[in-house]
Amino acid sequence: MHAIIEVGYLLATLSFLGGLKFMSSPKSAKTGNLIAAIGMVLAVILTFIAAITATVPYTNLIIMFLAIAVGTVVGKRLSDKVEMTGMPQLVSLFNATGGGCAMLLGLMEANQIDVSTTILGNKILLIAGLVTGAIALTGSIIAERKLAGNVKDSRSKAVIFSARILLGLILVLPIVYFIGLIPIGFTAFMYVLASIAMIYGVLFVLPIGGADMPVVISLLNSITGIATAFAGFVYGNKAMIAGGIFVGAAGILLTLLMCKAMNRSLMKVLAGTFKKSKAGAVEEEQEIKEISISETALTLSFAQKVAIIPGYGLAVAQAQHICGQLQQLLEKRNCEVDYIIHPVAGRMPGHMNVLLAEANVDYARLKEMDEGNENMAQYDTVLVLGANDVVNPAAENNPDSPVFGMPIIRAYESKQVIVMKRSMNKGYAGIQNDLFGLDNCSILFGDAKASLQEIVNQLKLV
Ligand code: TAP
Repeated sequence: MHAIIEVGYLLATLSFLGGLKFMSSPKSAKTGNLIAAIGMVLAVILTFIAAITATVPYTNLIIMFLAIAVGTVVGKRLSDKVEMTGMPQLVSLFNATGGGCAMLLGLMEANQIDVSTTILGNKILLIAGLVTGAIALTGSIIAERKLAGNVKDSRSKAVIFSARILLGLILVLPIVYFIGLIPIGFTAFMYVLASIAMIYGVLFVLPIGGADMPVVISLLNSITGIATAFAGFVYGNKAMIAGGIFVGAAGILLTLLMCKAMNRSLMKVLAGTFKKSKAGAVEEEQEIKEISISETALTLSFAQKVAIIPGYGLAVAQAQHICGQLQQLLEKRNCEVDYIIHPVAGRMPGHMNVLLAEANVDYARLKEMDEGNENMAQYDTVLVLGANDVVNPAAENNPDSPVFGMPIIRAYESKQVIVMKRSMNKGYAGIQNDLFGLDNCSILFGDAKASLQEIVNQLKLV
C-alpha cells in the first residue's frame, strides 16, 4: 500500500506541474486549473488512505472529513458569490487559511513530538512552518481588509520600527532558545513565536499601500506556499512539499515581475519604505476637454488603427462584453483594434486578461505594454477604458510623484486619446493624472458600459 500511495503522490505532483504549465497561457489556463484540481483531489484521497493504513483513530478521520466538507461548502459559496472585482480579496483570504493551517500544524506537532529525541533540523522546520504560516495568516487578513477599503494604510514610524524589531526577534529568538538561554518548554516557545509572527504579519502589511499592494499579495501567496512546504517536510508528505514549493516559487517569481512592472525594489517593499507626494505639493490645475458619445462614435468611425487600454474601471463597469462588441464592429469597418495590457492594470495580476478572455476577445489582439508603446504613435485613437494610474505620465516626468518610475502605457504619444470615466476621481494611487490635461486628450464622462453601449448603437447607424 505504501508504494501505491507514493506513486499516487508522484502523480498528484506531476498534475500540479502540468497544471502550472497550462496556466502559463490564458487560453489553456482553465484546463490547467482543472488538471491541478484533479491532482489536489487525488492528494486528499491518498492522505485519507495513508491515515487509514496508519491506523489513525476514526475520530480523527471524521474530523478531517468534516473539515473538508465545511471547507468545500464555504469555499464554493464564496467563489460563487464573489464579483470579479473582489477576486484579490478572495485570494488573500485563501492565503490566510493556508497560512493559518501551516501555523496550527506547527503548534500541534510541537505538542506531539518528543523534544529530547527530535533532531534540531526537524525543530527548525517546525519553527519555519509556524512562523511563515502565522505571518501569511494575519498579513493576508490585513491585505484583504485593506483591499476591501476597511483598513487604511498606517505609515507611522512606530509601525515600521515595531515591525523591524519583531522581524529581528523572529530571527534571533530561535537561536537564543536553542542555545538554552530561554528557559521555557518547546510548545510554550512555539506559542510565543506564533504570537510575535502574527503581530509582525499585521505590522508588515499595514504600511504597504497604493502601488505596492499587488506585490504584497503575491508575496503573501508565496509565503503561504513556503509554509505549506515546511509543513510537508514535517509530515514527510511529498505532494505537500511539491505543491508548497510550486506555490512558493511561482509566488516569488510573480512578486519579482510585479516589482519590475512597478519599478519597486522588493527590499523597499519589505522594508515598508515608499515614496510620498511632497508635503504641501499643489496639483496643477488642468484644463479638461470633454467629448460626447456621438463625437466619440464619429472619431472611431474614421479611425483605421485603434488601441484600447483597459483598467480597473472596466472591471467595475463589467464592460468587457460590450467592449468586445465594439472591437468586432470596428474590425468589420476595416479598423485594426489592439488591446494594450499593463501588467498591474486592475487589482490583481492578469485581471484584464481574465476579463477579456471572459468576453472571448482573441488573444492575438492583446499586446503587452512594451509592444504597445513601441507602436503608440501609429494609433489614430486610443480608448482608455477605466484605466488611470497605468497611463499617468507623472510616472515618467514627475520625480515627486508616488508613481514615479513605474513603467506606463504611453497613451499620450498616440494621435488622440479618449478617456472613459465617470468623474474626475483619482485612480488607485490617489494622484492627479497629467494625461487628462494634454491637448490630444478628451474625457468621455459616464459609466464605461453605458457609454460603450451607446457608441456601439451609434456606430451601427453610421
Ligand atoms: P486605477 O488607477 O485604479 O483607475 C481606475 C479608473 O477607473 C478610475 O479613473 C475611475 O474613475 C475609473 N472607473 C471606475 N469605475 C468606472 C466605471 N464604472 N466606468 C468607467 N470608469 C470607471 O486603475 P488602473 O489604471 O487599472 O491602475 C491600477 C492601479 O491599481 C495601479 O495603481 C496599481 O498599482 C494598483 N493595483 C494593482 C493591482 C494589480 S496586481 N493589478 C493590485 C492592487 C492595486 P472614476 O471613478 O471617475 O470613474
